[in-house]
Order: sequence, then C-alpha cells, then structure tokens
Amino acid sequence: MELKLKEGRIGTTVTGTIPERLSLKGRVAMVTGGSRGIGKAMARGLAEAGADVVVVSRAALEEGEAVAADLRAAGAKGSFAMLADVTSRTSLDAAVDEALKRLGKLDVMVANAGIGIDVNAEDMTEDQWDRLMDVNLKGVFFSAQAAARHMIPRKSGNIIVTSSLSAFVANGNPQACYNTSKAGVNMLVKCLAYEWARHDIRVNAIAPGFIMTDILGPYLREFPDEAYGYMIKPAAMNRIGTPDELAGAAVFLASDASSYMTGQCMIIDGGYSLTPLENRLL
Ligand code: NAI
Repeated sequence: MELKLKEGRIGTTVTGTIPERLSLKGRVAMVTGGSRGIGKAMARGLAEAGADVVVVSRAALEEGEAVAADLRAAGAKGSFAMLADVTSRTSLDAAVDEALKRLGKLDVMVANAGIGIDVNAEDMTEDQWDRLMDVNLKGVFFSAQAAARHMIPRKSGNIIVTSSLSAFVANGNPQACYNTSKAGVNMLVKCLAYEWARHDIRVNAIAPGFIMTDILGPYLREFPDEAYGYMIKPAAMNRIGTPDELAGAAVFLASDASSYMTGQCMIIDGGYSLTPLENRLL
C-alpha cells in the first residue's frame, strides 16, 4: 500500500533473509575489555559473524593479542589488539583513530569494560567510589562519545553496552556503587539512543546475570556456599552462565536483525530476575 506521510517514514532500507541480516561481514567492531571474560566472548561472536574486531584492554597487551590472533585464525583477518584506558577520553580517541587508520571505519562499539568492588556502603571510600564510577559509568560514556565522533558524520553506527542484572536488583552483595553504576548505564543507554537516533546510531545494552569470569572467581573460591545462595539458587535455571552465552545477543544487537531496536536493555540471567526467591516452588 502506497502511503504519503507529511513527516517521518515507514520501514527501513534493511533487506535480506534473517541469516543475511545477522551477518556482520565487512563490519568493524571495537570491544573494550575484550581481552578477557565477557568481552572476549563477545569479540569472538562478532568475529564469527564476520566482523573484524579491535580488542581493547587496559593492561596486559599480550592477553589481547592472543585473543586477536584467535579471531584472525577464525577468519576475522583485520582483527588486532591495543591498550586503552576507558577512563581517558584521549586514550579512547587514540583507539578509535587507530581503528580508522588500520580498518577504515568503526561500525560497532561494545563498551564492555567494567570493574567490581565489594565493600559495605558505610565503609566505602571516596577513592573507591570514584574509581568504580570512572570505569563503569564515565568509561561507557567516553567509549560511546569516542565512537560517535566518527559515527555521527557517517550517519551510521551501533553501540552496545554491558550493563548488569545488578542494575535491577540489589544482588545479594555489598555492591551499592557497582549496582548504581549499572543502573546509571541503563539510563545513559536510553539518553544516547534518544539523542543519536537522528544520526542513525542505535544504542542498546545487555544485562548479564552471574557469568563465570575472573570478576566472579575470587567470590566463588572464597565463599562457595554463600555463592550458591546468591548466585545460583535464585536463578530459575539453577546455574551460573558462561560468557559465550552472551555472544549471540551481542551479534543480534550489532546486526541489522535488530534494526528497529534502540535504547533497550536485554536481561540475560538464567531467570534470576523472574521472581523473588521466597516465591519459588522448586
Ligand atoms: P573481567 O574482569 O573478566 O574483564 C574485564 C575487562 O575489562 C578486562 O579485559 C580488563 O582489561 C578491562 N578493563 C578493566 N578496567 C578497564 C579500563 N579502565 N580500561 C579499559 N579496559 C578495562 O570481567 P567480566 O566479568 O568479563 O566483565 C565484563 C563486563 O561485564 C563488566 O562491565 C562487568 O561489570 C559486566 N558484568 C559481569 C558479570 C559477571 O558475572 N561476570 C555480570 C554482569 C555484568
């Protein structure tokens, strides 16, 4: 049916089958915190879907280089690793510039780097608060800003942020600052999505539940019984997740298969957030 609108438009220029829309062939992605854990798995997923990936980490370049080498071996030939600190806009600008120099463009920014601190709220120092907020909230903003500087003139781009289940629930840990940083990230995603939709940039988040990475390792080792009580038992699926279980969502959000989705947060938590524990029948 032909419809003439006074303003706005109907539909998209995206076409193709679902596998074609999910393909990231020819795209360039950057993943902060891509050398380990969730970022590493997302980088792998994006590469398997066809993207070249710039693997960014704060320290230990050799760790990132090993990941990039794996991605190149898997077919993402332009992938490479570099160091950048997400708390520094200058450092992120340099990372984006390097991606442009070596790969010509940046289609997808995954702002994934994050840290956790376990401290009772009454004992938390100003330095601890500032450090965590610098990485988890300001770092996400700077990553998105550095990418948008290039994406806005191109009128094309896609930003994915790693939020957390802990943006929605007090997660059973003394993590007021961490949880607040992730709740802030979710609002930031909405605001950036709203502001940059006019530049054809989509911004979405993935909120994982408990995922087996280095961030969890120390708790599981030190408090295995308590860990079961707050990490595993509340999840309806009765298990901790693995990083690769988030990679498909990252590919979906980065791809044209999600072309009408922006400003949203996908919770992937094994059913942790479905119902309060005391209501569970099992
Ligand atoms: P991880 O500790 O295994 O990896 C963190 C990565 O972030 C590393 O590559 C590290 O180099 C990088 N990083 C840290 N500070 C940085 C900085 N200032 N600049 C650049 N890179 C920096 O952690 P994991 O578990 O893979 O976490 C990734 C993201 O997922 C974080 O945002 C975390 O808050 C979030 N998350 C993790 C969950 C989990 O259960 N593991 C659950 C929900 C969210």
